[in-house]
Amino acid sequence: MNKRRRVYEGKAKVLYEGPEPGTLIQHFKDDATAFNNKKHALIEGKGVLNNRICEYIFLRLGEIGVPTHFLRSLNMREQLIREVEIIPLEVVVRNVAAGSLAQRLGLEEGKPLPRQIVEFYYKNDELGDPMVTEEHITAFGWATPQEIDEILALALRINDFLVGLFLGIGIRLVDFKIEFGREWDNEQMRIVLADEISPDCCRLWDIATSDKLDKDRFRRDMGGVLEAYQEVARRLGVLAGSPRPRGSGPVLVSSKPN
Ligand code: TMP
Ligand code: ASP
Repeated sequence: MNKRRRVYEGKAKVLYEGPEPGTLIQHFKDDATAFNNKKHALIEGKGVLNNRICEYIFLRLGEIGVPTHFLRSLNMREQLIREVEIIPLEVVVRNVAAGSLAQRLGLEEGKPLPRQIVEFYYKNDELGDPMVTEEHITAFGWATPQEIDEILALALRINDFLVGLFLGIGIRLVDFKIEFGREWDNEQMRIVLADEISPDCCRLWDIATSDKLDKDRFRRDMGGVLEAYQEVARRLGVLAGSPRPRGSGPVLVSSKPN
């Protein structure tokens, strides 16, 4: 059986010691949680889909020069990543009013925002990931002003790229959450995209039908969670068993309703 050392277990992923120093194995579980673990279920196959979708997105981001922790895919559920020092912030980028923003400011869900908005949340489950400002982040030493600038610039580049990527497959990228880490190379440090990008941490709406293709289906008890994730994977061209070779690129979907 598996005797690897478990370094960290989160709600949807496990990190194991990697084969070489400075590497980790990121394992995607089938667990789905919401509302800070108050709601939990197993969605069989979700981990495999998220691993594929995440691999595809991180590879494409790497190609445009966004530094990421991703090294290579290992198997259906696991990828080799660089070990980084996680910055304790959840960085949310929003294009369209939805979720907590719509609620907090009384905005209509689905209304495009005047411009992209970046928010920071302090990564702390006990506190329920409270929203924080740059003042809190620098005062408490979670990141320096220079690091915040770099994170903001990367978050906006990632958003610009992903909006286009998803638009090409008929999906509106409403918002998403990302995390960053510090990668050390002797004395040199750089900020890299870490964690994951998958339908677990994005809002993805079908452009033609407005169907939700993300974890809101689970949060809001809408059913069809796995089918929605499969649809995202299929359109990205990474669904195993789909007629197109894996990784051959996104499938163009007409954005006009029929
Ligand atoms: P929110 O509208 O609930 O604040 O969520 C914004 C985005 O961040 C949405 O795409 C879902 C994602 N998200 C996570 O990935 N993890 C979380 O814990 C929360 C609250 C949101
Ligand atoms: N991931 C968080 C949780 O498990 C919240 C969410 O995504 O809605 O509680």
